[in-house]
Amino acid sequence: MKGLILGGGKGTRLRPLTLNTPKPIVPVANRPFLLYQIDLMKTAGLGEIILSLSYLPRKIEDLLKDGADFDVRVHYAVEGEPLGTAGAFKNAEEWIDEPAVVFNGDVLTSLDLPAVIAAHQHTGAVATIVLTPVDDPSAYGLVEFDDAGRVTRFLEKPDMDTVTTNNINAGTYVLDPRVFEYIPGDRPFSFERELFPALLEAGLPVYAYTSDCYWIDIGTPEHYLEAHMDILAGRFRSPSIPPTALETGAENGASIDERSLIAPDVSIGRGARIASSVIGPNCRIREGARVVDSVVWPGVTIEENASVTGAIVGRSCSVGRSAVLKSGTVLGGMSSITDFSSV
Ligand code: GDD
Ligand code: MG
Repeated sequence: MKGLILGGGKGTRLRPLTLNTPKPIVPVANRPFLLYQIDLMKTAGLGEIILSLSYLPRKIEDLLKDGADFDVRVHYAVEGEPLGTAGAFKNAEEWIDEPAVVFNGDVLTSLDLPAVIAAHQHTGAVATIVLTPVDDPSAYGLVEFDDAGRVTRFLEKPDMDTVTTNNINAGTYVLDPRVFEYIPGDRPFSFERELFPALLEAGLPVYAYTSDCYWIDIGTPEHYLEAHMDILAGRFRSPSIPPTALETGAENGASIDERSLIAPDVSIGRGARIASSVIGPNCRIREGARVVDSVVWPGVTIEENASVTGAIVGRSCSVGRSAVLKSGTVLGGMSSITDFSSV
């Protein structure tokens, strides 16, 4: 069985972080995000993965190349213009002649993928859709199903007053190649708004697989930060994430709590304090600076006595002396915050 990762969206809700870094490879706990999805596909023995790309594809290709460094074989299906989620799947038809696993390229989850595949085989569905419960379903695709688990309705991003369930489309599917017949090849086409309703209309068996495993869509700054806080608190675990802080260049008197993740080649000045944060490679945290509940991308300098709380600091930013970044701040790459500014 092959896997396909949908990674062609522009990541607009994650701007400015995605202006130069496509969403599939934004760093999560200091690793390109896509690697967590590849890890998950490997748990089900999927060794051949198609990356469906459109926005900044070269950056992803340069990182993953043919996949050999990550023990998988990677193929690239690149769209000139975005074809929509189902159109993107159709664009990879040449590689898919048996059921395939499809992931939205922005979901971090500890789903039991082998169990999903087994369920798909058991029901003989044309499509199995993984569902997860969330508190506010209106930003997602709503899925209703009957007692036998057969999907009866798919409603993408409904108005709040038409929300009927809190089970949403978790963005993981197993799809039979029979669905290609329902995707026109000549125009953009959506799984959520077009294909799934069409399969239901045609009376084809579409099944739900409900999971209450860890799940988050990292596609907004709030959720991206939340995913990091979950990782640091142990709510999402991965053998690829180092278990405790790796203090490389901390000077005497610096304080780093146990849950923080500090990449190699980071220098931390005297009296600096880091708590519940992720610091990327080649950062410099100067004397007396504080970084709390934050994610700091590679190459950032945080000057003396600056304070960063609940913020996301993009690549190679510089935060001046005694500057204050308050909760909710998101700095795009190369931003420079002058001394004593408050953001
Ligand atoms: N190749 C390609 N081409 N990929 C695309 C395209 C396209 O035209 N459009 C979107 N994608 C990719 C995005 O890169 C992303 O990884 C995935 O498809 C989903 O797109 P999002 O833009 O993140 O959608 P969403 O989060 O608003 O909603 C989707 O995900 C929810 C779960 O997080 C829907 O599938 C919802 O039904 C679902 O509940
Ligand atoms: Mg999304």
